[in-house]
Formats: sequence, structure tokens, C-alpha cells
Amino acid sequence: MSRIVLGVSGGVAAYKAALLLRALTEAGHDVRVVPTPSALHFVGAATFEALSGHPVTTDVWSDVDEVAHVRIGQEADLVVIAPATADLLARAAAGRADDLLTATLLTAHCPVVFVPAMHTEMWLHPATQDNVATLRRRGSVVLPPAVGRLTGPDSGPGRLPEPADIAALATVVLGSGAAALAHDLTGRRVVISAGGTREPLDPVRYLGNRSSGKQGWALARVAAARGAEVVLVAANVELPAPFGVGVVPVGTAEELRSAMHAQAADADVVVMSAAVADFRPASVAGAKMKKDSAGEPDSVPLVRNADVLAELVAKRAPGQLVVGFAAETGDADADVLTHARAKLARKGCDLLVVNDVSGDLVFGQSDNAVVVLAADGESTEIPRGPKDTVAAGIWTVVASRLSPVQA
Ligand code: CTP
Repeated sequence: MSRIVLGVSGGVAAYKAALLLRALTEAGHDVRVVPTPSALHFVGAATFEALSGHPVTTDVWSDVDEVAHVRIGQEADLVVIAPATADLLARAAAGRADDLLTATLLTAHCPVVFVPAMHTEMWLHPATQDNVATLRRRGSVVLPPAVGRLTGPDSGPGRLPEPADIAALATVVLGSGAAALAHDLTGRRVVISAGGTREPLDPVRYLGNRSSGKQGWALARVAAARGAEVVLVAANVELPAPFGVGVVPVGTAEELRSAMHAQAADADVVVMSAAVADFRPASVAGAKMKKDSAGEPDSVPLVRNADVLAELVAKRAPGQLVVGFAAETGDADADVLTHARAKLARKGCDLLVVNDVSGDLVFGQSDNAVVVLAADGESTEIPRGPKDTVAAGIWTVVASRLSPVQA
């Protein structure tokens, strides 16, 4: 169990802090809420007290004998401020201590994650951007706001990401530190395929696989948190779009193939994490297939699908990195990594993320463990952890291999 301070500043998105608090406590963390006085105009202290099981104060004059402004910060494993308003970012950047939350920030030794939410104009103002740069330079994580509907009819960058996304990213920082959400993918466009394709047999049946899309979702969420523009080509995934990421829904391998070719052309990184069917039924029945009179099953002739990864490698733009995935098992001929190295060579991609699926089940689980193999022979082991933490490890390998952003 980790001790998390949830700072809440005074914006209308403060109502989402109650849901975030719920997500963090349900994940087993001990959460202490420290709102600013203005936050309490939006959500009452009683809500935060009931959901956290801790008293809520906003100033340094309550319980003076406990020296709360020093103790809360010192004891925390993580501080998350959601929403972080323009004013809160300014006060944090200036090192002020005019309420309990900013005083806590000055005594915290742990990683700090700011989750800004405000109107687009306030976010884009040079004063705010300078404050964000200052906080990042000092080692804090400042998530980019999601793009979408704001208070009132307008929309643009400034939305608070959904509480589930913030909770997942908080877990990454708790496990791997602030560097796991470094702002190192700014100016990069990444295209990620996720999920599993379904190849129709008739109007109601298909050949499919058990890929849940969770690892691809985690890759998209973490890449967006690290500043990338992200497109997710999603094959049959029911999850809500992470972090305001653009989702292109597809069904079959052929649909995934055309979406990936359309999206990949100007991408800096292409990640094929989808489970793509290698074969599809040679023909799709126009009407539901019936049992024949003898009750014997028909055989289903199959034809080969294109290898999308190999095609994307063949038309890779200069400087573009292409990342493949491989779920492997060891057998009598060779172990998992030997098979994986052969696949990396066969596919020609720059990196191959290898999942050993011989032991336990990975499909649909929230944990994973992988090895990232590079075409130049380097390999990086990413230990078992939540899929978002594994995603952060994968992006660290990818980011270290990207050529510098063109000015
Ligand atoms: N892949 C693809 N197109 C296909 C099949 C797979 O782009 N028709 C991609 C997957 O998205 C993944 C990588 O290729 O990134 C490896 O997938 P895998 O199924 O392990 O590869 P196969 O070539 O099918 O290898 P195997 O012979 O082991 O089935």
C-alpha cells in the first residue's frame, strides 16, 4: 500500500477528483486529499473525507501541533494534483506556500504528477507554458491535457484526462519514478495497432483471437502522457479511448491493413501490437451457415492474410521506427528468445517486443512481462508489472532510438 496525496485545485474538473480518489483507494492505496480553498467551491470537504477516510483541511492553521504541512509531504510516496489549474501551476512554479497544498509540495521528496485542466487559452498562454517547463525541468511530471469538450460549448486542449487514465499513470510513476513519464515524445506521431482481428465466416460467426487490447491501450496512454500525438487502430476493443487518443476502429485483418497503411505514412513510430489473423475464410457466406442434413461439420477453406508488419517495414519512411510484437512459447527446437530473434530477422522490424506465453495466461490480464529485442542485437528485459508500467519501459527503449526531432 502506498501513501498518495491527492491535491485538488479549484477548477470545474474537481468533480472528477472524487472518481480518481475512488480509483486510487480501490487499487489499495492510502489517499490523503489536500484541496485548495477554491476547490471546495466545487466539491465539499465531506465528499473527500468520506471517500478517503481522512480529515480534509486546506490551510496550515488547523491542527497546528501536528505540523501537517510538513508531515503530509514528507510521508507521501506520490503527490498527484488533479485538476491542476493555471493558478496552482503558477504558485507551484514560484515555490509559494500560501495554502496547505503548496506548502506540502515544498516538503515532498517523492515524485509529483500535475494533471492540468483549464481553458485552452489559459493552457496555451506563455505564462502557463513557462510554469509547466519550470516544473518539468525540476523533475515533476506535468501531463499534457486531453483534447476535447471543455466547460461550456467550446473544445480544445485543456480537458482533464479520465480518472481511470490518471490512476493508471499514477501507478506507473509509483512503480518506476517520474522518469517513466518523461516528456520525451513531444512532436512525435505514433500509430499503434491493438486488439485482435475477426475474420467473418457468415453474418454471425467469425474466426477470432483472445487479445484484449489492454497492452496496446497502455502503450497509447503512456505515449500520450509523454507528449506524443497518438492514433490507435483498434481491432474489436470495447475499452473507452484512452486520454483523448484518436481511435480508428477496424474489424478484419484487411481493414486493419488499410488503416495502418493510411496512418503510418507520416508516423515517427509504428507499433503492431494487434493480434492479426494469419488466415481468413476463403469466402464469407452471405446468409447464416446451416448444419448440413447429416449433421457433419463442413470444412472451412482458408486463405492467407497479408503480413501487415512486414509490409510496413518494407515501406518504412526514413527515420521511422517499426515495432513488432511476438507472443512466443519455447519448444523442443529452441527457447522463446531464439524463436523471437528468428522472427525479428524474418520480419525486419527495428524492435520486437517478446511475450513468453508458455507459462501463465497473458490474455486479458492487467500484468505483463516482456523482453524488447533490437535488430542490432541489444535486448532489454522489462520485469513483470502493470501493463502501463511495461508500456513505459517499452517507450523508454523506443525513445532512446529515435533520431532527434527536426527543427
Ligand atoms: N502480424 C501482422 N500481420 C499478420 C500477422 C502478424 O502484421 N498477418 C504482426 C503482429 O501484429 C505482430 C507480429 O506480426 O506484431 C508477430 O505476430 P505473430 O503472430 O507472432 O507472427 P507470425 O508471423 O504470424 O508468426 P508465427 O509463425 O509464429 O505465427
